[in-house]
Amino acid sequence: MSRRKKISPPTPVPSLSAQQTALEQFRVLLPPDEFLALLEELERPLLPAFRINPLKTTSQAVADWCEWYGWQVQPVAFCSTGWQVRQARTPLSQTLEHRFGHYYIQDAASMLPAELFDLPASPHPLILDMAASPGGKTTHLISRTLDRGLTLANDAGLERITPLRLVLQNWGTVNTAVTRFPAEKFGRWFPGVFDWALLDAPCSMQSLRPTESHPMRPISPREQSHLARRQTAMLMSALAAVKPGGQVVYSTCTLAPQEDEAVLDEVLRRLPNAVQVDSVSNRLPQPAPALTTAFGQTFHPQVQNALRLWPHRFSTSGFFAARLTRTDEMDLPTEPHPARPLRETGQEPLNRPMAQEIAEWLKNTYHFDLTSVLETYRLELWRSQASIFAVPTAFLETFDGLPCQMLGLKVLEDTPQGWQPAHEWVNRFAHHFQSGCLSLPDEMLDEWLKGKDVPMPRSAGNPPPVWIVFDERNRFIGRGRSSGIWLKNLLPRRGIG
Ligand SMILES: C[S@@+](CC[C@H](N)C(=O)[O-])C[C@H]1O[C@@H](n2cnc3c(N)ncnc32)[C@H](O)[C@@H]1O
Repeated sequence: MSRRKKISPPTPVPSLSAQQTALEQFRVLLPPDEFLALLEELERPLLPAFRINPLKTTSQAVADWCEWYGWQVQPVAFCSTGWQVRQARTPLSQTLEHRFGHYYIQDAASMLPAELFDLPASPHPLILDMAASPGGKTTHLISRTLDRGLTLANDAGLERITPLRLVLQNWGTVNTAVTRFPAEKFGRWFPGVFDWALLDAPCSMQSLRPTESHPMRPISPREQSHLARRQTAMLMSALAAVKPGGQVVYSTCTLAPQEDEAVLDEVLRRLPNAVQVDSVSNRLPQPAPALTTAFGQTFHPQVQNALRLWPHRFSTSGFFAARLTRTDEMDLPTEPHPARPLRETGQEPLNRPMAQEIAEWLKNTYHFDLTSVLETYRLELWRSQASIFAVPTAFLETFDGLPCQMLGLKVLEDTPQGWQPAHEWVNRFAHHFQSGCLSLPDEMLDEWLKGKDVPMPRSAGNPPPVWIVFDERNRFIGRGRSSGIWLKNLLPRRGIG
């Protein structure tokens, strides 16, 4: 059969720039008129796009943002919470809503993978994001389950963990754990455990829309086959980690078929009876099928069910995504996962009287109903040094001991002045705080957002340990402490710019 023939990429044309060279190899993969449409599309600037955070806001807010910031937007065809921006007086990155995690700036193409999953029957699914940093798609997975499922956000890169944690904290997720392990391990450690697994794989980044973070350069055949082999191993691991009936989405920001289609082909060959590539074309308003052949290789017929977003199809970057369902058992090796129980890391669960005391304190001071939040999201209170965290029960049930870089969300800080609600907790649940709140006059807003203390605005009632501060549009803008005639600004230093 010709199907197994090796792929050999065409020889680069030496006189072209690196980027043009990289582009030229795609000419043979499209009919001439489509390649022309692609070239024309690439002449146009990529439309910036954003996806709202349903944990903090609703689609109705977009109309306000358009008015306040002079935006003209159009909905993303395949993501009900995503918008592309045709015009913007205020850039997307410079609004208060961006700073406080009301939306995530993301190319529209990257909004496809999380949309491909079907919601499982359980309202609390277990979700694995294998290569998660900086967390764009993790925030989307969390949004799709409204933070009710447990999301394990993993990335192997040491320097990738801090950006991931910051993004997730600002998104306000409570049901998330961040880990740092090779994705290849999860199938061995947690076989048949997850409902969904996303593999947004490290790839050659041939998206045809180069940016600073996604440069486009010619990739040597050696590098390409190394990337394809790594993606195959990660995808095998993802498939092993989901339950029978569970779904895996494999995505890349490259259009190189030596990864994409060839990786799916290889996995279907290795697991002929245990997985299928699902048809998900109904998620798009017009077809965007994967290739059936490329550079002499003919792919397994199911590969065509994957989605290949050429930039000219939906005015996005180039992107590839496929949804696979695990249809049967897989006979793959297993091994115990690393374990270091939480209690051995200096953390301990709060006993019932202490947990009750804290719930009562929040109720009396802020009219905040902690008990109902803990029940809705299946959380338990743990103490870690001078802080109280809400820890996902599902993590303790299924992954107890797996070393984490972040787990749950901080609720309270124990300070020399006593308890105070943590910034990340208030940023998520600001509108559940019914007293102890202050409205800051507009003329003080700029100084406040720069992190400066401001004169204490007029307030009603006894001062709480810290005020929950809103602006005149009723947007949460931080916490503040009364200090004589001043309101001391407790905004975290890192977010100030
Ligand atoms: C395409 S990026 C992920 C982008 C992310 N999903 C998002 O939407 O923001 C690929 C990530 O894979 C990580 N990575 C590379 N090799 C890995 C491995 N063996 N296991 C886990 N993560 C890995 C990289 O550190 C990188 O952050």
